Amino acid sequence: MTGATTHSGGAVLADPQAYTDETRLHSALAELRAEAPVCWVDVPGYKPFWAITKHADIMAVERANELFTNSPRPVLTTVEGDLHQESIGVSTLIHLDDPQHRKVRAIGADWFRPKAMRGLKVRVDQLAKTFVDNMARAGGEIDFVQQIGVNFPLYVILSLLGLPEEDFPRMLKYTQELFGSEDVEFQRGGSVEERGLALFDMFNYFNEVTASRRANPTEDLASAIANARIDGEPMSDIDTVSYYLIVATAGHDTSSAVISGGMQALVENQDQLHRLQDNMNLMPLATEEMIRWVTPVKEFMRTAQQDAEVRGVKIAKGDSLLLSYPSGNRDEEVFDDPFTFDVGRDPNKHIAFGYGIHFCLGAALARMEINSFFTELVPRLKSIELAGPPENMATVFVGGLKHLPIRYELKD
Ligand code: HEM
Repeated sequence: MTGATTHSGGAVLADPQAYTDETRLHSALAELRAEAPVCWVDVPGYKPFWAITKHADIMAVERANELFTNSPRPVLTTVEGDLHQESIGVSTLIHLDDPQHRKVRAIGADWFRPKAMRGLKVRVDQLAKTFVDNMARAGGEIDFVQQIGVNFPLYVILSLLGLPEEDFPRMLKYTQELFGSEDVEFQRGGSVEERGLALFDMFNYFNEVTASRRANPTEDLASAIANARIDGEPMSDIDTVSYYLIVATAGHDTSSAVISGGMQALVENQDQLHRLQDNMNLMPLATEEMIRWVTPVKEFMRTAQQDAEVRGVKIAKGDSLLLSYPSGNRDEEVFDDPFTFDVGRDPNKHIAFGYGIHFCLGAALARMEINSFFTELVPRLKSIELAGPPENMATVFVGGLKHLPIRYELKD
């Protein structure tokens, strides 16, 4: 059966509910890797696509960035959602291809380099301490996702942008409505149009930021974006807002999902928690393992510009390909015991940040904040256990836990 180009398992990739049940998801992905690693998925509501589930193939497709482009279909949305996106005209880094992509990426790139990260570390460590202190004050039982997991990364990214703290709750609501938009708990309304309102609110907010930073530039990323020039020209309003949008949203739910999912993994694998407590030098490796384990970005898409082949399967010009990062990060050919959470995993060649020219711009920031948070929390933990069932978010794009009830004791 190896080499088949269709498989019933392919449907999970277009089913938001499948991502709420990791066992079901991963058993379907494992079957796809073994039986139909390049699989044609044609399900109601979606334009069909090829599902790419092997680590090596995901890298090969990303490497060939002229043959397989991000435009015109960078992420999986429904047919209805595709039309809506086109009508809004959002254009962020993930919608662009070279040469434009390179120029636009350069605007923010300096703010994410190691030098800038070192400058930000003091603030991030301070925020990590504040949030762990909050846990101590909360009295031993919380929903970790809603009280810590979503807030800490938001504070980090909005601090980097330079936005005022009183606006943080509003941004939290918008990003959750946008990225959790397949999950009824966070939806603003039933229809695509109603959900689009969250996007418009965010647009309006960032338009005001642009105007104020153009009038009074400050030393922050928001000013760098507002005053950026491409080929000597200022960016259009929509492109400027799109830039904020990708930084604010990409920088938030992703790290948040890893911090919450990393917490769950430590609670459920107490041997690994104790191993880390005994040797905090493992923290950089533990950080990578949490990122691999959670893989919060479920997919990005590419479109073939010419007839092509992946693993011997013919791909026609114009076909879309879905890169399944959760599948790549459990690929038995790359990882020993891929379903074991191992805080000392080394090497760990995960592809949670993607690969090639679109490689995650915020990877160093994400690593720093995850590392900072657990470096503060882990030594202070006396005990920790689940206080209820963890719940995952329904999504086909970015997500992870939405609830993680925990009971714990911290050292003073
Ligand atoms: C653990 C946390 C994160 C994960 C797993 C993650 C994952 C990803 C992935 C898979 C991509 C697409 C890569 C590709 O197409 O090859 C991406 C792109 C991107 N990420 Fe992240 N991300 C994370 C955190 C962040 C943070 C903190 C920021 C901060 C602003 C950020 C900003 C971006 C941007 C701007 C892009 C678009 C880059 C481009 O198209 O050139 N991400 N990320």
